Amino acid sequence: MTAKILDGKALAAAIRNELAGEVESLVGKGVTPGLAVVLVGDDPASAIYVRNKGRAAEKLGVTAEIHRLPGDTTQSEVLALVDRLNRDSAVDGFIVQVPLPEQIDPIVVQDAISPAKDVDGFTPENIGLLAQGRPRFVAATPLGCMRLVAESGVELAGKNAVVVGRSNIVGKPMAMLLTNAHATVTVCHSRTQNLGGVVGSADVVIAAVGRAEMIRGEWIKPGAVVIDVGINRTAEGKLVGDVEFAAAVERAGAITPVPGGVGPMTIVSLLANTVVAAQLRAKPSG
Ligand code: GUN
Repeated sequence: MTAKILDGKALAAAIRNELAGEVESLVGKGVTPGLAVVLVGDDPASAIYVRNKGRAAEKLGVTAEIHRLPGDTTQSEVLALVDRLNRDSAVDGFIVQVPLPEQIDPIVVQDAISPAKDVDGFTPENIGLLAQGRPRFVAATPLGCMRLVAESGVELAGKNAVVVGRSNIVGKPMAMLLTNAHATVTVCHSRTQNLGGVVGSADVVIAAVGRAEMIRGEWIKPGAVVIDVGINRTAEGKLVGDVEFAAAVERAGAITPVPGGVGPMTIVSLLANTVVAAQLRAKPSG
């Protein structure tokens, strides 16, 4: 069997079209959605992600304000900017790109972001709402992964889902979303024993470890849905995911490519959250 390829680029384009209609209707009510992005330092991958987020926002008609701060910015300076953005009525939502330079504690910064503007879904309040099954802003990458799972056509209720990786920004919220969708969820990490065996039990695999092709194709249960969050550059300069794609595509029922799978979905999910934030501004009681 050769898997169906889950084309994140095409799906993201379709969602952007839907969002464009919502942005148009907001603008008609005098509300132009506004996103701000804070980037501290010169991490090259972050610089590319932030540039792509800004471009995608503007293309949609969402105002994007990018704050690029030098790598030696202090935590107090970042907190002062967060405070300003919390109070700026033209900014519906904002994110502080991670990783941050070592003098800045990302938890302290996330705690300072107003949950009503936390379009990253990283604040304790938004994580708590998701945990309770009444999400407001959900982290963009897991939200994008759920759309890709839906696109595969798999019915999650009662299925075994395995999430490899337990980060706060992908693995943990992903596990909550899958649990809320009635899957039976296992979260694996660096100390998991018999990873291959656990992955082999999965009807749905979410790979979010950040290690090139660590998930072997032969582990994949025939027909499983495989969502690959990883973007890793090999020594030869090639972009590969966390899944050994060439072998996995022969066993899976559906699989995301890298690039062109989860990446475009992450950006469109951030924009979707920003549009929801602007809709709340347009209709605060709704
Ligand atoms: N770094 C990698 N992914 C993300 C993300 O979704 N949001 C933020 N703020 N930083 C990131």
